[in-house]
Amino acid sequence: MINRLLTFLDASPVNFLAVKNLTGELEQAGFRRVDPQEPIGNVTAGDKLYVTKNDSSVYAFQLGRKPLAETGFRMICAHCDSPTFRIKPNAEMQGDGGIVKLNTEVYGGPIMSTWFDRPLTLAGRVIVRGADEMSPQTRLLHIKRPLLQISNLAIHFNREVNDGVKLSKQTDMLPILGIIKDELESGNLLMNLICEELNKEGSVKREDILDFDLYLADATPACTFGAHNEFISSGRLDDLSMCHAGLVALQDAPETDYTKVLAIFDNEETGSQTKQGAGSPFLATMLQRIALAQGGTEEAFYQAVERAFMVSADNAHAWHPNYSAKYDPTNHPVLGGGPVIKFNAAQKYASDAVSAAVFAEVCRKAGVPCQRFVNHSDVAGGSTLGNILASSIPLRGVDMGNAILAMHSCRETGSVADHAYCIKAFTQFFS
Ligand code: CO
Repeated sequence: MINRLLTFLDASPVNFLAVKNLTGELEQAGFRRVDPQEPIGNVTAGDKLYVTKNDSSVYAFQLGRKPLAETGFRMICAHCDSPTFRIKPNAEMQGDGGIVKLNTEVYGGPIMSTWFDRPLTLAGRVIVRGADEMSPQTRLLHIKRPLLQISNLAIHFNREVNDGVKLSKQTDMLPILGIIKDELESGNLLMNLICEELNKEGSVKREDILDFDLYLADATPACTFGAHNEFISSGRLDDLSMCHAGLVALQDAPETDYTKVLAIFDNEETGSQTKQGAGSPFLATMLQRIALAQGGTEEAFYQAVERAFMVSADNAHAWHPNYSAKYDPTNHPVLGGGPVIKFNAAQKYASDAVSAAVFAEVCRKAGVPCQRFVNHSDVAGGSTLGNILASSIPLRGVDMGNAILAMHSCRETGSVADHAYCIKAFTQFFS
């Protein structure tokens, strides 16, 4: 199972690729794509449907034997975006000796220093001219070789480097791409590379490339490590590991009376307030449309919401052996200790005693250990999907996730055992 996760991580350097891989797996499991521009049409018990938004979020529905109004739905949600660097328009900056670097902008909250001195590549989507101006075509891009690097300044120029360095997002974080060989390449190095890559799968003319959403990605594959190979080293464990666990649970799920939902949102790392984020009404309207397609009314949808339960799955902080003092004295989950329920008195997490009890019971039934996380009271901590979603659909639910080290590093550390535990718990939840 862990190899399936590593393969998924490597094939999903950014949100768009993650969604492509998730929908590919859903289709193999018999889920049918729904076009939200068209009527949903007739749906029957047991139908498996999915829909995407912006190519960067995906929502899968396995309809129950009973209508939504009678049994509600069980939902697992997670997010497919991770902190990285976006390539700006007019990105090429040429310096002495023809060396070209790319202008970038930070996406989300990366630990920036972890992006230095490692082979990076580009991934995202490229927009190509379509039949008319309102329907441009999208081509996904993932250059599968080391292509760029953000290089450090030598220690000889900054002897205090190990005492901590303040980094400028604008000047320190620009990767080098290459050295211009002839004048024709000047200003065209990036576009030439994009064009060359796209032409490996169907011809694209340079003048037909209209725009792109491209991001930096670690070019080194994910791996396990440790004396017993008990750890995972990879970028984007937050939150692709939870996306993967939710997907596997849904693929293996039996038919049930209630409806199952897997919701993978984009833009959690920037606050979720986009049409493809958890702050969007898109999921609520899709659920409403399904309830109507089942012959229900608006009332049926509201009943379904009241009967529903959400597991908002986003990674938690594992106890770090070098930084004990940063953690709550009595609630600091450990790597390998099982899924983590997150609590926050200020309600940044959806969990309360009722919803936590429900999830802890799910874990117990699945034979999986379960841990609890609360911030050290002097540390602000983060936020996640659960509450943002609850503000548009008032769902009962729990915020949880597997514990990792170095959240938002270019390479985070997770636990092999925890991934298996989480899949077991999610499978139980969906059974
Ligand atoms: Co996250």
